[in-house]
Amino acid sequence: MSGTEELLNEFYANVIDSVGDGVIALDAAGCVSLMNPAAEEITGISRRLAQGNPFASIFKKELLLLEMVEKTAATGITVSDHENLVIRKASGVTPVSATTSPLLLKNGEQVGIVLILRDLTNIRELEQAIRHADRLSTLGTLAAGLAHEIKNPLGGIKGAAQLLEREMPEESDLRDYTGIMIKEVERVNRLLEDLLDLAAPKKLAHDRVNLHKALNDIILMQKQSIRDQQVTFQQQFDPSIPPILGDERLLTQVFLNLVKNAIEAVGESGLIRVSTRVLSEYSLTHKGERPSRMVAVEIHDDGPGIRKEQLELLFTPFFTTKTAGTGLGLAICQKIVTEHRGMIKVESDPGKGTSFTVMLPLIQ
Ligand SMILES: Nc1ncnc2c1ncn2[C@@H]1O[C@H](COP(=O)(O)OP(=O)(O)O)[C@@H](O)[C@H]1O
Ligand SMILES: [Mg+2]
Repeated sequence: MSGTEELLNEFYANVIDSVGDGVIALDAAGCVSLMNPAAEEITGISRRLAQGNPFASIFKKELLLLEMVEKTAATGITVSDHENLVIRKASGVTPVSATTSPLLLKNGEQVGIVLILRDLTNIRELEQAIRHADRLSTLGTLAAGLAHEIKNPLGGIKGAAQLLEREMPEESDLRDYTGIMIKEVERVNRLLEDLLDLAAPKKLAHDRVNLHKALNDIILMQKQSIRDQQVTFQQQFDPSIPPILGDERLLTQVFLNLVKNAIEAVGESGLIRVSTRVLSEYSLTHKGERPSRMVAVEIHDDGPGIRKEQLELLFTPFFTTKTAGTGLGLAICQKIVTEHRGMIKVESDPGKGTSFTVMLPLIQ
C-alpha cells in the first residue's frame, strides 16, 4: 500500500468513526468487517467481539434486522425500516431505524452489505410528548365548555344555601347541612377553576425566571406544611443555569404540582430529590429559529412508583388514583410546559420510585 493510500484509508476510517449513526459493514460471507463506535453504543456489542464473526449469529435475536440483511444480500436492494425495529440489550430496549444497502465495487459486483442504525429514543420521546399535547387540546376545549355551564347553577346553589343559613336560628342543628352544602360547592368550584386553567388559552408572561429560587421557595414552603412527616428533601442544582425566559407564576405551579405529587407518593416517610442540569442531547427546533439547548428539572421520589399501564394515562385530565385527587395536576403541568415549548417526561420503576423531568428551552 502506498503512503497516500494509507493516509486515505485512515481518513475514511476516521470519517466512519465520527458519524453519529451506527455503521456496520458485512463482507460477502455475512461476517462483520467493520463497526463504528456509534454502532457499538446502539447495539451494546463491542467491535472486538463482533469483528470477523457472522452477523447472523451475533444478532440472532433481532429477527427483523436479519431479514433486512438477508433481503439485501439476496437481491442487492436497499431496505429501510423506520418504524418497527428495536435492539434488545441488557439495559433495555432501544428503538432504532435501520437501512441495509449493498456494498458494490465499481464494476457492480456486490462484496458485502452496509447497515446503518439510528437511535430513535429521543425522537420517540418527542413524538409521545406531541401526542399527549394533542389529546389534551381536544379534551380541554370540551372541558372548558362544560365548566362554564356548571359554574352558573353552582353559583345559584351556593347563594341559596347561604340564604337558607341566614334564615336559620344560630343554634339549629340544620346549619351543619348548609355548611356542608357551601363547602362542597366551593370544592367543585375549585375543581372547575382548575379545569378552566387547563383549557383557557393564556398569554404567557415573559419573566426572567430564576429556576433555583422558585424551586427553593417551593421546597421551603412544602417542608413547612409537612413538618410531621419524615420526608427528606435533597437539592442538586447546576449553578451554571442562568435565569430562563418564561412565566414565573405558571412554572412555579408546574413544580409545585410535581413536588406535591412526590410528597403524596412517599407518604409518611421518604426521599425527594430535586435536581437541575443542562441537557446537551436535546434541542427542539422550531421553524426559522436557531436550535436551543434545554434545561432539565427533575423531581424524583422513592415512593411506590407507577405501573406501566398507568404511565400512559397520567397526563389525561381526571386520571387519579387518589380519593381526594382531581387528576388535573399533571394535565395542567403538561399544558404549561408545552406552552413554554418544553416537554415533560416520566420514568418510574414500581417499587423503586418515580422521576418527573421537565425540560425547558434555555432561552435567556
Ligand atoms: N410521584 C408520583 N408517584 C406515583 N404516582 C404518581 C406520582 N405523580 C403522579 N402520580 C399518579 O398520577 C395521578 C395523577 O396525578 P395528578 O394529575 O397530579 O392528579 P392528582 O394528584 O389529583 O391525583 C395520581 O393520582 C397518581 O396516581
Ligand atoms: Mg397532583
